Amino acid sequence: MPTLAVIEDLVVAFPDTEGRRRLVVDGVWLDVEDGETVAVVGASGSGKSLTILALLGLVPAPGEVVHGHVRLVGVDVRAADEATLCGLRGRTAGLVQQEPSANFNPVQRLWRPVSEAAKRHGLVSGVRERRALAADLLAEVGLEDAPAMVDAFPHQLSGGQRQRAAVAAALAARPHLLVADEPTSALDSVSQAELLRLLGRLRHERGLAVLVVTHDLELATATGGRMLVLHAGETVEVGESVRLAKGPAHPYTQALLAGRVVPSAPAELSRSRCRFVDGCPRAMPRCRQARPALADGLEGGLVRCFLWSDTAEAAHG
Ligand SMILES: Nc1ncnc2c1ncn2[C@@H]1O[C@H](COP(=O)(O)OP(=O)(O)OP(=O)(O)O)[C@@H](O)[C@H]1O
Ligand code: SF4
Ligand SMILES: [Mg+2]
Repeated sequence: MPTLAVIEDLVVAFPDTEGRRRLVVDGVWLDVEDGETVAVVGASGSGKSLTILALLGLVPAPGEVVHGHVRLVGVDVRAADEATLCGLRGRTAGLVQQEPSANFNPVQRLWRPVSEAAKRHGLVSGVRERRALAADLLAEVGLEDAPAMVDAFPHQLSGGQRQRAAVAAALAARPHLLVADEPTSALDSVSQAELLRLLGRLRHERGLAVLVVTHDLELATATGGRMLVLHAGETVEVGESVRLAKGPAHPYTQALLAGRVVPSAPAELSRSRCRFVDGCPRAMPRCRQARPALADGLEGGLVRCFLWSDTAEAAHG
């Protein structure tokens, strides 16, 4: 069996106002094995959403993936045609998007979007079957009075309920992987914790792999799986979340865990020095002369820092 999801050295660019290519993600590595939980953490703008959109071939134009390998169940997502990608979306990987409006059409009653992926993949047909599936899914994600809720409109739900309904929709075609981009602005921390508990339960009950994006390191640690830390468009540390919370190797992860305010990421993603050099209390001259590569760290983890490995990133396209 190929690894469920793999991203190697992802680079995503958008044109700037003069039409020049501006890199917004440059150096993300990620992998998700069957049945595991991976939490992606990082500050706003670090590239979390674009990374998971790239995994499903959904980077919005005029943005584009300009470098890297992206594979879902062994399929090369960058080379795949739209029909192949449609076959993967929903069925291999179900996606809960960050923007609540991206998950639901405001004029459709919930049963439609919640059963949509199952219909698209030929698992249900007809309104009666779709409504029954929607009711089951809404109940499975813990929404009370699910049979009545199938006829609700999205605006009649609270933020937390809407997020659960979006999870229900992402489960409809029985995917192997559930990808959830945390709606940080819409949910309070209690709802976020509840959402992560729900994902943990679904992983257990359905044998799902879960890839979840969160701002909250404590919540990421509570998932108990692996954690992947993004900073300035690149993966800076990967490891078992419990180990990483106790002994983070990368100075950026250390700052995040200590709740220290770090300078916001540079507008230009440098390839000639460490992107955390201006915020790093342990910076050395070497850190301004080359960009560290993601290398082996503690206990099977990975870390991108010259304190741990002298390997510099090789220049590429
Ligand atoms: N449509 C776009 N056009 C231009 N730049 C974009 C676009 N979408 C994202 N970016 C840039 O790409 C970078 C990464 O964006 P992304 O949405 O992946 O961040 P994020 O880590 O998900 O942040 P947040 O936690 O705020 O959701 C940001 O610097 C952002 O400005
Ligand atoms: S490479 Fe240098 S500047 Fe960058 S995180 Fe490591 S010690 Fe700090
Ligand atoms: Mg985001």
